[in-house]
Amino acid sequence: MSQTATFVFCAILATAYSADRKFPPGFIFGAGTSSYQIEGGWNVTDKSESIWDVFAHTPGKVRNDDNGDIACDSYNKWKDDVQMAADLGLHFYRFSLSWPRLLPTGFPNEISEDGKNYYNNLIDGLLEKGIQPVITIYHWELPQRLQNLGGWTNPSITDWFADYARVVYTLYADRVKTWITINEPIIMCDLSYNTGVTAPGIKDPLASYMCGKHVMIAHAKAWRIYDKEFKPKHKGRVSVTNQLIWFEAKTPEEEELAKLTRDLSVGLHSHPIYSKEGGWPPVIEEYIAKKSKEEGYARSRLPEFTPEEIELVKGTYDFYALNYYTGGTIRKARDGETIDPWPLSGLPELEAVIEKRPEWKKSEVYWFSVYPEGLRKQLVWLKENYGDLEFLIVENGYPSIGLNLQDLNRISCIEGHLEQILLAIKEDGINITGYTVWSLMDNFEWNEGYSIKFGLYEVDFADPARTRTPRASAHYYASVIKSHTLDVNIVENKHITDEL
Ligand code: NOJ
Repeated sequence: MSQTATFVFCAILATAYSADRKFPPGFIFGAGTSSYQIEGGWNVTDKSESIWDVFAHTPGKVRNDDNGDIACDSYNKWKDDVQMAADLGLHFYRFSLSWPRLLPTGFPNEISEDGKNYYNNLIDGLLEKGIQPVITIYHWELPQRLQNLGGWTNPSITDWFADYARVVYTLYADRVKTWITINEPIIMCDLSYNTGVTAPGIKDPLASYMCGKHVMIAHAKAWRIYDKEFKPKHKGRVSVTNQLIWFEAKTPEEEELAKLTRDLSVGLHSHPIYSKEGGWPPVIEEYIAKKSKEEGYARSRLPEFTPEEIELVKGTYDFYALNYYTGGTIRKARDGETIDPWPLSGLPELEAVIEKRPEWKKSEVYWFSVYPEGLRKQLVWLKENYGDLEFLIVENGYPSIGLNLQDLNRISCIEGHLEQILLAIKEDGINITGYTVWSLMDNFEWNEGYSIKFGLYEVDFADPARTRTPRASAHYYASVIKSHTLDVNIVENKHITDEL
């Protein structure tokens, strides 16, 4: 760490080597962020408004009416971000591109010089420190103009996105070798278009599945553009990332319902890409068609894929990217019970209720409890369903509230997940090649504003300089990366023992 003063708080040592706590050679470690959550610079030069600019500027939409106008000020402080990534010893840094910063009209007729240079500088800065850039092309920052045209419910978005993807490959594929097309299709479509708690705040039970279909086709078009036009020369790889909550039955009698919930939550955006036959998971397709008929619709609320679309989407991956945070138990709803659609708006559809087991460690954040074993179970499920794929974990982390440099809960959460990853690799033979902590630093947590913290680095949002300070978890993670093992101990010291 460059900030030596922080060793006042804690010291971390790698202990004697133990083979089963060692990561395979070539296993890579990273940390992630996304553009709206950290950049700020919302109205600089020719950047246009995104759906998040508009949403967060609307009173009452975001907790405390926070917005990303300045956020972590990474638009101005990107060199600090790079230095933090270097201090951690990251092998890669996952960040996203702001569509309206790069293409102010939303279309490739105008490419912003300022936007182009911002990401050029960031990419070059990372490479100079030996850190691989991993780029998410779309992490929820849609140009508002495209939303005015229907956003992800308009089928034309599949071409708008493909055109945008071609621009970014043209600008950066010479230096960027790992790409994520779209972040978390199911969460993005549910929260943006069904529960409406995130931008653009639409609440329409039809819109979410329309979005779900268009996201699959947009991803597939972008994957195919890279595969055909860029891969032969640049030899990189592209995938989409899914948010996977591990759903398991509350009691053995509820196994069927839990299976159906997994088929919806994981299968909806995996089956079209990774299964041999492609298309929606048949059990989900039938279920929603039947429900839609009962509700009096002329056709299923889940739009069909044509045979050509099934072929277009099938096989569009180079690895399986996943974001994992938590698990839930599933039970059948009681008669008349109101079902909370969080975190999957299909829960009311399935008449399924999600709960947590009492033995799972709770956090301060209502939706999160620590369940690392769920990650291993999820990986086994994916391997059983889609085969022996390469898995890259592109998000995992611990949410907390309030300022706290001694984040021991975050350390134990990260360690717990890394233990399960090692077990999955060594006991289950799963090919996991990398792990990403969300997040490099505290940032704008969408509709929760700045109230929820995920950072290895604490950011002082009251300070115009947006000072960043490494937490104990930053030191811990740096030691894991350096030693390439989990044999890392936090040496006792006053502050830590006080908290324990
Ligand atoms: C997943 C999203 O990709 C990210 O933007 C968000 O901050 C984290 N989950 C934490 O909720």
